[in-house]
Amino acid sequence: MTLQTHSEPGDRFQRANQAKASFGDVYNQTEPSAYYRALLPLDYRIVDEAAPMFREIITQWRSRYQQRHVKVLDVGCSYGINAAVLRYGLTFATLGHRYLETRSPSAVPADDQAFFRNRTIADDALSFVGLDTSQNAQQYARQVGLLDGAIAENLEQGNISSNGKKHLQGVDLVISTGCIGYVTERTLGTVVDSVVSSSKPPWVASFVLRMFSYDAIASRLASQGLVTRKMAGTFRQRRFHGSDERRKVLQSLERRGIDPSEHEAQDDYLHAELFLSRPADSSAG
Ligand SMILES: C[S@@+](CC[C@H](N)C(=O)[O-])C[C@H]1O[C@@H](n2cnc3c(N)ncnc32)[C@H](O)[C@@H]1O
Repeated sequence: MTLQTHSEPGDRFQRANQAKASFGDVYNQTEPSAYYRALLPLDYRIVDEAAPMFREIITQWRSRYQQRHVKVLDVGCSYGINAAVLRYGLTFATLGHRYLETRSPSAVPADDQAFFRNRTIADDALSFVGLDTSQNAQQYARQVGLLDGAIAENLEQGNISSNGKKHLQGVDLVISTGCIGYVTERTLGTVVDSVVSSSKPPWVASFVLRMFSYDAIASRLASQGLVTRKMAGTFRQRRFHGSDERRKVLQSLERRGIDPSEHEAQDDYLHAELFLSRPADSSAG
């Protein structure tokens, strides 16, 4: 007789997640000041390091499908930061410094809406839908105009709603920064299934901390017709929060058989890798 133990996809990431400092209290505020104030001192920079790669992927997608408009789904979109960076050409630090001034929290959304409205759009053929469990963050991002649609659902724990499916219709590219580990093949698999039922399979571009394995996600995406490649190089996400986090993250990497000596242990930053999944007929090159 074999004893079956029930384990969820997220359980795999539990130990690695425990190694990381938790910023859960700043994810679901009515405006992003606390988020920027927590992450600016740690030089959070994955959205800046990701932006040129996302732009290059968007260029390749446009060339492959001969279509300029790209509908992007940002998984773990938070306050719409990837949208702000990609649409307006801003950086995390430029955005974040606005939140170091003292403003009344209730005034921030309207103020930010005016700020974005008055900026030149760097790429006017992108639309953004966000998926995040943080209802407040999404509401802010919609209110200020960074997101065109939002899905506030936890696809790790439940099925997608019909409203969520509606927002996913026609998504061309799924992106994420800082979110794999919170989400697994369950979320990305559901997203891709929902898109495929309405249009062609989306491309999926995920920046993934090296302490998290992408294997289960890649194999779920393979079963949906997407071929995953790890792109060259590593990308700095942020500085360690302190010596305790540093020690636990290095241990976590070593447990995965990853040598941190030329990256995390050398510069004291968490490093991510980029995984790009595309239909087999788009994957050459
Ligand atoms: C480290 S933040 C990254 C935010 C943003 N992508 C960035 O790079 O600035 C992680 C985000 O994942 C979201 N998140 C956590 N669990 C989630 C889930 N099950 N589904 C979708 N989003 C989730 C959090 O609410 C948070 O906004």
